[in-house]
Amino acid sequence: MSTDHNVSSNAFGSNTQIHQGNTVIHNYGSNASRKANFVLPFPPNESVIRRPEIVTKIDKLLTRSKDGHYCSAALWGLGGSGKTQIALDYAYRRSHEDPACDIFWVHADNETSFARDYQRIARKLNLDYKVNSEELFLTVCDGIGSLQRWLLILDNADDLTLFGVGVGGQTKSLFEYIPHGPGGTVLWTSRDEQIVNLVGPLRGVLISHMGIKEAENLLAMTRREDIRADEIKEAKLLLQELQWLPLAISQAGSYMLRTSTPIKKYLSKLLEGESRWDMLKQSQHDRHRRPDVPNSVLETWNISISHIRQESETTYKVLNTIAYLDSEKIPLSLILAASNDNTPGQERSPQNQEEVLKMVIPRLKELSFISERKAENGDEPSFDMHKLVQDAIRYQLHTDDSTLETYFATAALGVTWQYISASTEQ
Ligand SMILES: Nc1ncnc2c1ncn2[C@@H]1O[C@H](COP(=O)(O)OP(=O)(O)OP(=O)(O)O)[C@@H](O)[C@H]1O
Ligand SMILES: [Mg+2]
Repeated sequence: MSTDHNVSSNAFGSNTQIHQGNTVIHNYGSNASRKANFVLPFPPNESVIRRPEIVTKIDKLLTRSKDGHYCSAALWGLGGSGKTQIALDYAYRRSHEDPACDIFWVHADNETSFARDYQRIARKLNLDYKVNSEELFLTVCDGIGSLQRWLLILDNADDLTLFGVGVGGQTKSLFEYIPHGPGGTVLWTSRDEQIVNLVGPLRGVLISHMGIKEAENLLAMTRREDIRADEIKEAKLLLQELQWLPLAISQAGSYMLRTSTPIKKYLSKLLEGESRWDMLKQSQHDRHRRPDVPNSVLETWNISISHIRQESETTYKVLNTIAYLDSEKIPLSLILAASNDNTPGQERSPQNQEEVLKMVIPRLKELSFISERKAENGDEPSFDMHKLVQDAIRYQLHTDDSTLETYFATAALGVTWQYISASTEQ
């Protein structure tokens, strides 16, 4: 049996282990007077709406790191679902509970932001930061890993090829430079469920829409006015229309505050075909989001959609076509048909069908663009598509490329027609 002894005042360097038979003496060094390093890009959000179910899950997954074990977890979900806010809240809670814990934040969107933040950490830890990228990454990785207790947040790791996921292990990946020493906690956020490949299947936490009460609180907080009893019915309808998505709610609330728009008026504009996009297009400043990413609901998913297009034209085609269908209960056969060229009379090849079942649908689920419904009484499987993602896709096609807009809208009509004809024949 091995026992752990903590020895804080001695002649050994910090964080050394002395092995004596079955006993491991872990010298964490004296931290009594040491000020923990703290590198976070955003101030605490004093008006954060706590989401207790998620907080419990994260705390459970990461609790062992406080006892000197390495732990990691990943928050994944649709853009705007609140992953960064939850990670930020965890960082501030952790620093409050454990003031000796060193805390670092890295924007993991791309290699440039990753390198910039690693440089910042190197400076903070008095490491040599003028070296070339690889040496810098290694130095920082070792520097963090040798601290007694530390938390590293890797935010917005949306392009997972950077971290070696989905590239067949051929190229060098930034994952090699993520520390995993004892006493360390790594918390990732990503729009892509594939992130669980980096932490293990049981360590992913899906961040989906807010609960009804949480959403009401966020609306009240962002418009700086409680929801009155005579507004509650419209507020509920509005939140449903916004799919209880935190980004959409906070944007709506800030707009209402700035323009003194009552809930009822905002809702009616959202439900009117003509002004709907004007409402969703709004982009109010948000001090808890990076200034270089769009806050508008109609633009926030552009980058994910471009990624999809680079990955697979078939997935891109299916996504754009089903954006023109009713968002609820889209039958599997309709999704299969959406991957065809839709030439009348053209049969779906088995190969094509396999691609949709094994690649297209799983990918759209991993990115939270669609979700599967539970099939009832042997019914055909069906899917819901996120209603605001549908708006965003239609808006982008409308503004960027009217030829593609016509193509996908017509394709949607075509597959619906095929589906109705086939159902009538049966
Ligand atoms: N728990 C919360 N309390 C208060 N506001 C929140 C909360 N969650 C999200 N918000 C609001 O919604 C906005 C979007 O949330 P956030 O940036 O955390 O989403 P995200 O999932 O990280 O999105 P992305 O994938 O685009 O990075 C926040 O800037 C904030 O205004
Ligand atoms: Mg984020």
